[in-house]
Amino acid sequence: MKIGFLGAGKMGLALAQGIIQTEADFSTLISDPDAGARERFLQQIPQAVVLEENQAVCREADVVFVACKPQQLAAATESLSCEPSKALYISILAGVTTQRLVTALGSKRVVRAMPNTPCLIGQGVLGLAVNPALDANDQDLAERLLANVGTVVRVPEAWMDAVTGISGSGPAYVFKFIEAMIQSGLKAGLEPSIARLLVIETFRGAAELLRATGAEPDELRQQVSSPGGTTMAGLAVLDQRGLDQIIQSAVGAAIERSRELAGSS
Ligand SMILES: NC(=O)c1ccc[n+]([C@@H]2O[C@H](COP(=O)([O-])OP(=O)(O)OC[C@H]3O[C@@H](n4cnc5c(N)ncnc54)[C@H](OP(=O)(O)O)[C@@H]3O)[C@@H](O)[C@H]2O)c1
Repeated sequence: MKIGFLGAGKMGLALAQGIIQTEADFSTLISDPDAGARERFLQQIPQAVVLEENQAVCREADVVFVACKPQQLAAATESLSCEPSKALYISILAGVTTQRLVTALGSKRVVRAMPNTPCLIGQGVLGLAVNPALDANDQDLAERLLANVGTVVRVPEAWMDAVTGISGSGPAYVFKFIEAMIQSGLKAGLEPSIARLLVIETFRGAAELLRATGAEPDELRQQVSSPGGTTMAGLAVLDQRGLDQIIQSAVGAAIERSRELAGSS
């Protein structure tokens, strides 16, 4: 199998590195105008073949990941629609609808996925929207390839903006929360390395506890919030300052931006 990448940036490379670990027999074709991106890709995957034109990637590959930025789609697909391709296209572009992809790529063999940055270490979560009319083999192939970099969750396409706002952008919200927790630790007199370790392990452990027990987050929260205790005192401030509303507004803004990108791509 030949797997192509239109755009060999961070996500394209992460996907290729994940796929290498499980697919025994495949070759990689990339096309990217950025010499630095091509070089970084070749450093990690020296056997990848660099092609000058996106059209050549689409002509030769069995599967093509569309992995440029959403705003670059028009330039990346210029001239593709006039030459039919045998490839299955897997787009990871935020906000760009299947309908737009079909028009831009000149092919109906298109699925949309929304990864997140933990995919870079094989621990991501990805929303996958497939057109139900797409051949079942294509659907399964897309899911199998994407599963190399994270947990794949199939969703209707109408949910993709919400997936973008929650899990696509989500790691950045978590990093922001972590930054604030570390800063609080420093203010309280902890050494930076100790504050960092305590906070990262707290996030990791809390997420693992949720996953391992299958419990609801509010149940686990209540277990550690005894009346008059320390956790209760901290949580009361989060409630007073409206943390829930802040998070809902942040996710809402990301979803809105995803919709705007859909309109502008
Ligand atoms: N990173 C994330 O956390 C994340 C999460 C979810 C979804 N995504 C999606 O993943 C996609 C890629 O993100 P990324 O972080 O991997 O971006 P990236 O590192 O900037 O990679 C995109 C690459 O595509 C190249 N490119 C530009 N124009 C092109 C063209 N005409 N033909 C082929 N390649 C072209 C870019 O080159 P230049 O640098 O010269 O522009 C760049 O090297 C985005 O659509 C984003 O929505 C990313």
